[in-house]
Amino acid sequence: MSSIKSLEELQKIREEVQQGMDLRKSEDEKHIKIMVGMATCGIAAGARDTFNTLLEEIDKRKMKNVYLVQVGCMGYCHDEPIVQVNAPGASPVLYGHINQEKAIEIIGKHIEKGELLQDLIISKSFDRV
Ligand code: FES
Repeated sequence: MSSIKSLEELQKIREEVQQGMDLRKSEDEKHIKIMVGMATCGIAAGARDTFNTLLEEIDKRKMKNVYLVQVGCMGYCHDEPIVQVNAPGASPVLYGHINQEKAIEIIGKHIEKGELLQDLIISKSFDRV
């Protein structure tokens, strides 16, 4: 890695990084992001099946604006498998005990129709991650 030799060079790098962040932010604002907790506790509770079911449903319904992401510890071991939905302009919603059947329900109701699955929500009032 080469070293930075002037203030102008540093400012140029800063602008490039900022542009990249702005671009990513505007992309994030158009997409729904679904996160599945895949720490050991999540996997032990069946998070792999949950993840694969979500992936199949997204694929089957040809949803182009939905990202599915594996994440690590989400801090709710007792409610695994955990699925978090971040939709543009809405507070993040955290669902607990999401088996394959409930994963299909999340896609069909929350993602497709914007309806929250009230009985499955464990939190929806925290800052977005
Ligand atoms: S280790 Fe289970 S949620 Fe963190």
